[in-house]
Amino acid sequence: MSSSDNLKDDNSSLITVIDNLEYHQFDASNQEQFNQISHLVSQHLSEPYSIYVYWYFLNTWPQYCFIVRQPKPNDHNIIGVIISKVEPHRNVRMRGYIGMVVIDPSFRKLGIGKNLVKLTIDKMINWDQIDEIMLETEVINIGAIKLYENLGFLKTKRLYRYYLNTHDAFRLILPISDKSTTRIAFLPQLES
Ligand SMILES: CC(C)(COP(=O)(O)OP(=O)(O)OC[C@H]1O[C@@H](n2cnc3c(N)ncnc32)[C@H](O)[C@@H]1OP(=O)(O)O)[C@@H](O)C(=O)NCCC(=O)NCCS
Repeated sequence: MSSSDNLKDDNSSLITVIDNLEYHQFDASNQEQFNQISHLVSQHLSEPYSIYVYWYFLNTWPQYCFIVRQPKPNDHNIIGVIISKVEPHRNVRMRGYIGMVVIDPSFRKLGIGKNLVKLTIDKMINWDQIDEIMLETEVINIGAIKLYENLGFLKTKRLYRYYLNTHDAFRLILPISDKSTTRIAFLPQLES
C-alpha cells in the first residue's frame, strides 16, 4: 500500500475542485496527512520549523489548513498546503495570519498557491469576519512577494535578519475592513 492510500478519501473535507485538483480541509484525525504536510513544509521552506510549530497551528486552527491533491486514480499525495490562524490583534481587530504556504516544485506556477491564498482569505472573511491578514516572507522570495502583491497585500515593514538563515523579511498586510487602516487608539475593544 502506498502512503497515499492511507489518506482517507473523505469527500466531507472536499471544498472545491479547480483544474482537476482537489482542495480539501485538513483532517486533524489523520496522522498520514500531518506527516505529509510536515514533510512538504520541511523540504521546501527555508525556515526549519519544529514539530511543535505545526502542532500549534494545526491543533488550534485545523479549519485554516487546506491541502491540494490530484484526484484518484492519480497519485493522491499532498502537493500543496497552506497553514494559517486567526486571532484578535490588541483586542481591537480580528487578524488572520498566513504561517506557511508550500507547493510541490513539480506543480508550481500553475496557480495553486494563488488559489490556496484566495481560499484562505475567503474563509477568514466568512468564518471570522477578519479585518486584515498578515504574513512575513523573505525579501529575496520574489515569487511569493509577487503572489501576495497581486492579491492586494502591501509591504508594511522590513524586518532585519528575521530568519534563522539571517535573511531579512518583509511584513505584508492585506487590509479587509476600515479597521485595518484606523489607528488602534481610535478603535473600540472587541466584544468578548
Ligand atoms: C511561492 C509559492 C507558494 C508560489 O506557488 P505557485 O503555485 O507556484 O504560485 P502561483 O502559480 O499561484 O502564482 C501566483 C502568482 O505569483 C507569481 N509567481 C509564482 N512563482 C513565481 C516565481 N518564482 N517568480 C515570479 N513570479 C512568480 C505567478 O506569476 C503568479 O502571478 P499572477 O497572479 O500574475 O498569475 C511556491 O513557489 C513555493 O511553494 N515556494 C516555496 C515555499 C515558499 O517560498 N513559500 C512562501 C513563503 S511565505
